[in-house]
Amino acid sequence: MTQPTTNKSLVNLLPQLVSTDNGLAQDVRQGLSQNPKKLSSRFFYDAKGSQLFQQIMELPEYYLTKLEHQILSRQRKEILYAIDTATPFQLVDLGAGDAYKTKLLLSELVASKVDFSYVPLDISEDQLNLLLEDLHHRWPQLPVTALAAEYFQGLAWLNQEKPQRKVVLFLGSNIGNFHLQEAQEFLCTLRKSLNPHDSLLLGLDLRKDPEKMRRAYADAAGVTSAFNLNLLHRINKELHADFDLDQFQHFAEYDPLEGTMRSFLISRKAQQVHIGALNETFEFEAWEAIHTENSYKFSLRQVEEMAQACGYRVQDVYTDASHGFADVLLRPVES
Ligand code: AVJ
Repeated sequence: MTQPTTNKSLVNLLPQLVSTDNGLAQDVRQGLSQNPKKLSSRFFYDAKGSQLFQQIMELPEYYLTKLEHQILSRQRKEILYAIDTATPFQLVDLGAGDAYKTKLLLSELVASKVDFSYVPLDISEDQLNLLLEDLHHRWPQLPVTALAAEYFQGLAWLNQEKPQRKVVLFLGSNIGNFHLQEAQEFLCTLRKSLNPHDSLLLGLDLRKDPEKMRRAYADAAGVTSAFNLNLLHRINKELHADFDLDQFQHFAEYDPLEGTMRSFLISRKAQQVHIGALNETFEFEAWEAIHTENSYKFSLRQVEEMAQACGYRVQDVYTDASHGFADVLLRPVES
């Protein structure tokens, strides 16, 4: 094969991600050998999965995006005032996706002629290419550096490449996919990449009526079901497996003690699945579950405790009118 002379993609693929091993095989081997079985939600986002998540965000039941959009559209002036736009900075968007909500901030920043550059980071290169095209079309002058990377890999790269003041966005309750302890570890690790004048805007889904939360993860149109099942489709494609998608069903429930929305794929019958790339066959009992995702719902007190434990202070809390979602502005405490 000849190498293309021009590279159409403007996305910076960080070295580790260029390697063919994305960790899927390892995750599947481990997760399906366990009891209860599990698969990691980070593998939802191949091209198809990213597209299905875009559709989820448009669902009437998926209130998270709507509430956060409301917060950022109504309070963006206050938020930008609080992060201080007078000195130049990089706006680092962890898990940018289509940047639907970030664009509210971008349009305000561009309109006020603020000196900043935008650094969207995402694990999906396809998603980033779509975003770059869209951004270039809207704001041809906006400096953008797109990074296809895992979160910390991207931050480490930024710190070596061009250390600048950073405003880090971690929106959409993406942090909710971690277990509580992992979420805290994440905040603590992120703290180490931040300097005193940096800040972090963290989007969190708050606890609310369990029925409302459950409907957001078990929508009537079945988009979330397709999103969850796409994980098996991805394993079929990438690891040469023979999951019969009709024989697994999506199920989601809320645990009010832990504050966790949990998603599962449940085997509708006793069956075997062969995974060619692993040279292994896995047994499923009738109605056995694979745990595929946690979407943690926070209380504001918890967020404050986690932030403090990791060396941040809570500068501001922005919420929507129903107090269903919060964007929390954290500042490193000088040590
Ligand atoms: C992208 C992780 C915030 O947990 O709400 C949506 C992913 N899963 N519906 C979430 C998701 C099922 C979403 N996050």
